[in-house]
Amino acid sequence: MVWTIFLLLNGLLILILLYSTRTRQKNEPPLDKGFIPWLGHALEFGKDAAKFLARMKEKHGDIFTVRVAGHYVTVLLDPNSFDAVINDSVFLDFTRTRQQLLKRIFSLQLPSIKPTAERKWMEQHFQGLHLSKLSSSMNMHLQNLLLSDNKGCSPSEWQHDGLFSLCYSLLFRAGYLTLFDRKDNAAAVYKEFRTFDNLLTKLARSSLKRGESKTVNSSRERLWELLSPSWLSGESQSSTWQQSYHHFLQREGVDAEMQKRALLLQLWTTQCNAGPAAFWLLGFLLTHPEAMEAVKSEIRRLTLRDTSLQRRPINQLEAHSTPVFDSVLSETLRLTAAVMINREVMQDKILCMADGREYHLRQGDRVCLFPFLSPQMDPEIHQDPQVFKYDRFLNEDITVKDKFYKDEKRLKYYTMPWGAGRNMCIGKEFAVTAIKQFVFLLLTHLDVELCDPEAKLPAVNPSRYGFGMLQPDGDLQVRYRLKTQDEM
Ligand code: HEM
Repeated sequence: MVWTIFLLLNGLLILILLYSTRTRQKNEPPLDKGFIPWLGHALEFGKDAAKFLARMKEKHGDIFTVRVAGHYVTVLLDPNSFDAVINDSVFLDFTRTRQQLLKRIFSLQLPSIKPTAERKWMEQHFQGLHLSKLSSSMNMHLQNLLLSDNKGCSPSEWQHDGLFSLCYSLLFRAGYLTLFDRKDNAAAVYKEFRTFDNLLTKLARSSLKRGESKTVNSSRERLWELLSPSWLSGESQSSTWQQSYHHFLQREGVDAEMQKRALLLQLWTTQCNAGPAAFWLLGFLLTHPEAMEAVKSEIRRLTLRDTSLQRRPINQLEAHSTPVFDSVLSETLRLTAAVMINREVMQDKILCMADGREYHLRQGDRVCLFPFLSPQMDPEIHQDPQVFKYDRFLNEDITVKDKFYKDEKRLKYYTMPWGAGRNMCIGKEFAVTAIKQFVFLLLTHLDVELCDPEAKLPAVNPSRYGFGMLQPDGDLQVRYRLKTQDEM
């Protein structure tokens, strides 16, 4: 027994040594393995990926390979070269990495489903006629929730809340009521989801502590139950979004247990970004009075005939162009959307950079784009990148500014909050409309103020880099009250 363990340990040690003796070959990107065998830079990466990758960029330039928990990851930070990764579906792939993540985070296995089939199904719902129905429904739910949450409050009565809680809770519940069939448990789903979402990054990195594992597992199981509609066990006739998803999974041969679990994946995909985005946007407006005034005056100029909460949903917003609001949203997302685009190298590949450099990528390694660092926070592209400038994406004639340059080359990718290529966000239009409806509703129907007029936006929670919209560490305390009819 002792000998077996000894031999096993020896074998393991040899493997570790073999693995950690990788050296940079000709034509490969600079290699930085870190000091810890196998783990490499995993700890620094998981703690604050933006800080770590900025340090590596400073040291190695816009392409380098780092070792992270046994994987070699080539990080590409030149947006002019992104297409070489995004458009390559032969040498680079994301299917296996995605499946691993689904299993780890959602305890979900969908091997029979091709990402292209799922994407096609999603697109049917978030485009065209379906999209405008969903957006109307979202608007109605936002209005109803705002009214019911403030029921019994007189217009003069101030209420206090954290802005993040306020935005996330309202947008989440409205989104849930729009897409999911159970209408009786939105508040419970939101509460449970926040517990799950708070531990999601640790779950993805397999770095949960013992107590946390228990919490996240029971939260996940509770969410599976909460999301299961009564019709799941029987036949359903009508055709809501959730039923359509159920039929899609059935057609693809997914068993009942996995169908149930897949609903949590959909809840996360559709609801985890809009609330945090609305928080940052309103947070920036509240801490930048000139931006707030510019948005409010754009709203005043919109000739909305009916802003009453009690009447039918208003969708004129979609018909009006709102360049100032659009610039504020783009600027907000530039500063707070931090997706990582990951691919696995399926066969050895030569990566051709825009400036003519060529690098060899090894089969089995990974490639990662992190647009948050570049283009979004790149000082060569965006002057004073840390600063919120509400008109950064506006030309002088108040049209959309879309010409940005690096190395004197006009950029195709100057900000990438929605991802790009085959994985680009399907819900972009739905999300933009929802955030716009929400911000509009709040600014026209509520007086919202910072509790402390000098308060600053909270810092970013650094563990969330790579998981879409960033979330704050803490909250921004606000007070709000319903406006009277005359004030609207
Ligand atoms: C501010 C809000 C949002 C942002 C910033 C955002 C961002 C993104 C990003 C960056 C991706 C690509 C992820 C990757 O490459 O791994 C993505 C994918 C996706 N998003 Fe969004 N999203 C938002 C809201 C929404 C909403 C509201 C929906 C639906 C209602 C939605 C549906 C999807 C879907 C279905 C995908 C998967 C696409 C695929 O795998 O092919 N998103 N989103």
